[in-house]
Amino acid sequence: MLLEVEGLTRYFGGVAAVKEISFQVQESEIFALIGPNGAGKTTVFNLITGLLAPDAGSLVFEGKSLAGLKPHQIAAAGISRTFQNLQLFGGMTVLENIIAGAYLKGRTGFLKSLATWPGSAREERKIRQEALALIDEVGLAGLADLPAAALPFGRQRLLEIARALASGPRLVLLDEPAAGLNSAETKELADYLKRLREEGKSMVLVEHDMETVMEVADRIMVLNFGEAIALGTPAEIQANPEVIKAYLGEDEQVA
Ligand SMILES: Nc1ncnc2c1ncn2[C@@H]1O[C@H](COP(=O)(O)OP(=O)(O)OP(=O)(O)O)[C@@H](O)[C@H]1O
Ligand SMILES: [Mg+2]
Repeated sequence: MLLEVEGLTRYFGGVAAVKEISFQVQESEIFALIGPNGAGKTTVFNLITGLLAPDAGSLVFEGKSLAGLKPHQIAAAGISRTFQNLQLFGGMTVLENIIAGAYLKGRTGFLKSLATWPGSAREERKIRQEALALIDEVGLAGLADLPAAALPFGRQRLLEIARALASGPRLVLLDEPAAGLNSAETKELADYLKRLREEGKSMVLVEHDMETVMEVADRIMVLNFGEAIALGTPAEIQANPEVIKAYLGEDEQVA
């Protein structure tokens, strides 16, 4: 088991944003977390990546507890993420953004790697080549030297995914990667996520676009007001009356 989340709980004020959530992510799995706005999805990511400390519960990655680790240590352990609100370096080029992501690799912290940047010329060439390959793979070919801020929003989303992948993580947490993408880009994204799974990556996908979720997810957990109300395959989730009621309102159907 790659990631084991057990009884994860986090309060803000007196309110549980995440309450006793348990799930496991397997190797080469796309595990989706869905639920209405404010359900606690991003908070789960913030807890896994060490931006927030849990009030209760445990997080175990590759058999080791993540308790007390700093965000850069968790990144170095092999978990990377994208942000719902993009956090690119807008003034840096596409290539530089990806190289910055690549320097999270290994056991050094981000600041330390910046301090030693660019490292040896040979290492730099290798990282550059890998970054360019990633740029092609994610569909940003030809854009490497543009400032990130100059890209259309949909392309910036893809860049953030590429940057998250640049560190060679075992597990990638994607927070609404399809938000702001047009339908062609969304389709490309879904195909790309499936390709990454074939290559052995594991992903936790937070996404409101149900078509994408139902197409790519192996299993889905539904959160509502911080609590898990369902866990199952896309077919099981689509047929779950409680999910339809809580998540979409009684008049609508999932996907
Ligand atoms: N840092 C914080 N301080 C206080 N409250 C917070 C904080 N982060 C999240 N919350 C609250 O916790 C709850 C869950 O928020 P969260 O961002 O995890 O929801 P979400 O499922 O990601 O929603 P969305 O789909 O809108 O992104 C919300 O009520 C939110 O206001
Ligand atoms: Mg969110």
